[in-house]
Amino acid sequence: MNAQWKKSTIYQIYPKSFYDSNGDGIGDIQGIISKLSYLADLGVDYLWITPMYKSPQYDNGYDIADYYAIDPMYGTMDDFDELVTKAHEKGLKIMMDIVVNHTSTEHQWFQEAKKDLTNKYRNYYIWKNGKGVSEPTNWQSKFGGSAWAKTPETEEYYLHLFDERQADLNWENEELRKEIYKMMRWWLEKGVNGFRLDVVNLLSKSHDFKDDTLENAQADGRKYYTDGPKIHMYLQEMNREVFAKFPGTLTAGEMSSTTIEQCIEYTKPENKELDMVFNFHHLKVDYLKLEKWSNAKVDYKQLKELICTWQKGMQTGNGWNALFLSNHDQPRAISRFVNPQKYHFEGATMLAIMMSALQGTPYIYQGEEFGMLNPEFTEISEYRDIEAINHYDILQKKGFSKDETLEILRLKSRDNSRTPLQWNNTQNAGFTTGIPWINVGKNYRNINAAEDEKSAKSIRKFYQKLIALRKTESLLMTGEFEYIQTAPEIFAYNRIGVDEQLLVIVNLSEKGQPIPIIADNIGMNEIILSNYRQVDIPSKLMPYEALIIKKTKR
Ligand code: GLC
Ligand code: CA
Repeated sequence: MNAQWKKSTIYQIYPKSFYDSNGDGIGDIQGIISKLSYLADLGVDYLWITPMYKSPQYDNGYDIADYYAIDPMYGTMDDFDELVTKAHEKGLKIMMDIVVNHTSTEHQWFQEAKKDLTNKYRNYYIWKNGKGVSEPTNWQSKFGGSAWAKTPETEEYYLHLFDERQADLNWENEELRKEIYKMMRWWLEKGVNGFRLDVVNLLSKSHDFKDDTLENAQADGRKYYTDGPKIHMYLQEMNREVFAKFPGTLTAGEMSSTTIEQCIEYTKPENKELDMVFNFHHLKVDYLKLEKWSNAKVDYKQLKELICTWQKGMQTGNGWNALFLSNHDQPRAISRFVNPQKYHFEGATMLAIMMSALQGTPYIYQGEEFGMLNPEFTEISEYRDIEAINHYDILQKKGFSKDETLEILRLKSRDNSRTPLQWNNTQNAGFTTGIPWINVGKNYRNINAAEDEKSAKSIRKFYQKLIALRKTESLLMTGEFEYIQTAPEIFAYNRIGVDEQLLVIVNLSEKGQPIPIIADNIGMNEIILSNYRQVDIPSKLMPYEALIIKKTKR
């Protein structure tokens, strides 16, 4: 329980949109290096950087063509080494994003594999015969359409759970697994400090490739490969072959449609698999009947319930959560969960407290530290993401009008979080002197890092306090989570220790609320962090008010 990293805060960088050092409109490694002081100053411990490997970029780098090379648009391997060295000098650790469920079809392995049935690399991927004219199974790609595609060279189909140009690797093949472990060790030898493992619970596909006939919205095949039969074996092997050889390596697995039971298995220390997991159930609270591409209001009750269920479940099983509301696949949390027009600071800081005081390791997604919002795109030509572009057609074929489709994209597209980091109010928000690869959010003149820094209500300064608090207040790490029943608009919980406890109360609404009864008159109550006040505990909560109160038994 004393693992140092449990006190850490992790900052996610989407390099393409972080900072462009050479004016080509694309963020790059030298751009990150030039902002290391900004990051160190925020107080974060790790930088998770999304993939910068050589890639054709059909899925912004999650389609890796060479695991051993940096994509030229980001710089060179020397730049990367310089980044690692300079980050370490500033006390920042580097977490690589590694994608081992699939490669780009431009990867040399696939280029060889597709040639003929007997190629040495054929067995690195998953191939099946079709059923007459149709695909081997009715499984769906996560980006829309069938999960199977053919190459012209042979009659077989290969599996791609994501884009057609991302072919799934065959983890049954031991030779492939060894290649992957070797590559991961190579990065650790270079000095990186950890991995964020992309969709890692999808590695093990069940042997019987069958049609999914479940009568529900998710009859897409996921039950045949989510948390698949050999997944724990693979992760334990990876741990032995890679992580254990480099003590201190931090690992976070991205889990698709998983369960608490599985996530306990992935993270309980005695299993020796991963340190923590991302799950996404709490980010589906504005889906309509499990459908992301819909226009539904946030169900806050469900949000609270899901967070609590995961907190309690993971705690009981000795698992560990990654805590987050934002990443490069999600719309901006502040646009999504609060009313930023009226309560930008209050809403942003309330969400920060709500998440960071839970049990787990908090993540900040670039720009979240000063309250970046969705860019409010209105034209399909503004979108870059393959998933959004695919769904522009899919939704209209389903009968949505063009306007309805654009409205859904505006709310749900992954591009919402991928627009350039808004550094200041100069042209292109100070991100680039060239033409940015994706439009800058329309609000950048008001919402940017420089403006926030000047403001009396600086969100970034609030994050600094919160990050520092995690280091000094050990109950945030060890305190037992206990949910407190309250009105639906309020989320309250305890983090209980032996002689002291933390009480966290947040108002999820933009209206004032009576404060739930909390005083037990034993000992002392002291506000240790709040987005409104410092001293007296109020009798009424202001819009989006959030408090961490420390209670000490006397
Ligand atoms: C993960 C990544 C996402 C990517 C997908 C396929 O969900 O976060 O950006 O598109 O995996 O690699
Ligand atoms: Ca650049």
